[in-house]
Amino acid sequence: MHHFTYKGGVLHAEDVSLAELAARVGTPFYAYAQATLSRHYRVFDDAFAGDDHLVCFAMKANSNQAVLKLLAGLGAGMDIVSGGELKRAQAAGVAGGKIVFSGVGKTEEEMRAALAHGIRCFNVESLPELRRLSQVARAMGRTAPVALRINPDVDAKTHEKIATGRKADKFGISWTRALEAYALAAGLPGIAVTGLATHIGSQITDLQPFEQAYSLMAELATRLREAGHDIRHVDLGGGLGVPYRGDTDIPPHPDDYAAMVRRLLGHLDVAYIFEPGRMIAANAGVLVGRVLYVKEAEGKTFLITDVGMNDLLRPTLYEAFHHIQPLAEPEPDAPMMSADVVGPVCETGDYIARERRLPQMKEGDLFAVMTAGAYGAVMAGTYNTRALVPEVLVNGADHAVVRRRFDEERIVGLDSLAPWQMA
Ligand code: LLP
Repeated sequence: MHHFTYKGGVLHAEDVSLAELAARVGTPFYAYAQATLSRHYRVFDDAFAGDDHLVCFAMKANSNQAVLKLLAGLGAGMDIVSGGELKRAQAAGVAGGKIVFSGVGKTEEEMRAALAHGIRCFNVESLPELRRLSQVARAMGRTAPVALRINPDVDAKTHEKIATGRKADKFGISWTRALEAYALAAGLPGIAVTGLATHIGSQITDLQPFEQAYSLMAELATRLREAGHDIRHVDLGGGLGVPYRGDTDIPPHPDDYAAMVRRLLGHLDVAYIFEPGRMIAANAGVLVGRVLYVKEAEGKTFLITDVGMNDLLRPTLYEAFHHIQPLAEPEPDAPMMSADVVGPVCETGDYIARERRLPQMKEGDLFAVMTAGAYGAVMAGTYNTRALVPEVLVNGADHAVVRRRFDEERIVGLDSLAPWQMA
């Protein structure tokens, strides 16, 4: 479900013509539909109505201030993974009590900042990290609320690079060592055990891996309580997928996911924390670009566009599929073409789609790369000294540029010469 539809023959974000936005902002740019963001947040949150729960948006998926402010306004907390994300969450006015801190490599400085902001919980991923957090908290005269992130050794059956819950992955503490780890935590000064956490991966389209991991969490929570630990919440991570293709990758509905969670953990009387990212933001965003050239090569056609891998890394990094829709609505009997849709970056891996069947497109045509609201703009860079792509938020018939284009002059201006190079 999203709010990008053809109206009067032109693709709109809610009631704003993407073609008009392109004329105003220039391409490429990301556009987000506020209605989709709100709807997805609510669908997930409502699925747990009646349960003590907190939805912490995994802000790594989309950390634009306008997006955070919107979600925070709906009651969302944030799942952060760096001091930078903490700063963004603070700037968006998110209270410490609604922030959980994940990640395998927290620095002392990041720990101090999070302690000072009074965050809800540190999801600790290793014993050395636990000891370091104890030292940092003690030195500050504070107590760090802690959940240990447990690695359940479950294959989430997703792309290799975004599965996080197998024993060979760098994340979490093996479930086989959970009891020992909690015993250590309980004895450390400056640490207060408050819960249990897991996250098995991303773009998961089947409930089965979740079930496997969550059954283990339920069992662990019981055993930890028996051992005297105060397990008040279970953080079940994020990971619910989205339909990038719309046929072979239909994810479970949040209501079915919620029913499964209640069935497995309902008897524990714990608060749930969730960390969804993609399912809230992905379908709420598109990336708009323009065809620069149509290049007929040896037996194939390249649509050379102004969308580079620096603007959207997912296709080349994960072989990810994103639908491409022309902004001008194709006639039902429009002639089709098969093309590699590529960018201007000097790498063969710089593509949005390969051998894609598309309505015939020509030089100058505008198009939208769909389902680009999560892990799109946040993963963009300036490789090939290309401007950092801007972001626009749409709300009904209104729009606002919520990140302006970081242009090439400013990129060059970040560098400086060494003193000995000055004349
Ligand atoms: N919690 C933790 C601890 C995570 O590491 C992640 C994602 C999430 C929550 C949110 O997962 P989600 O609900 O969005 O699936 N760049 C990749 C995705 C990387 C996901 C990293 N961790 C992509 O574009 O597919």
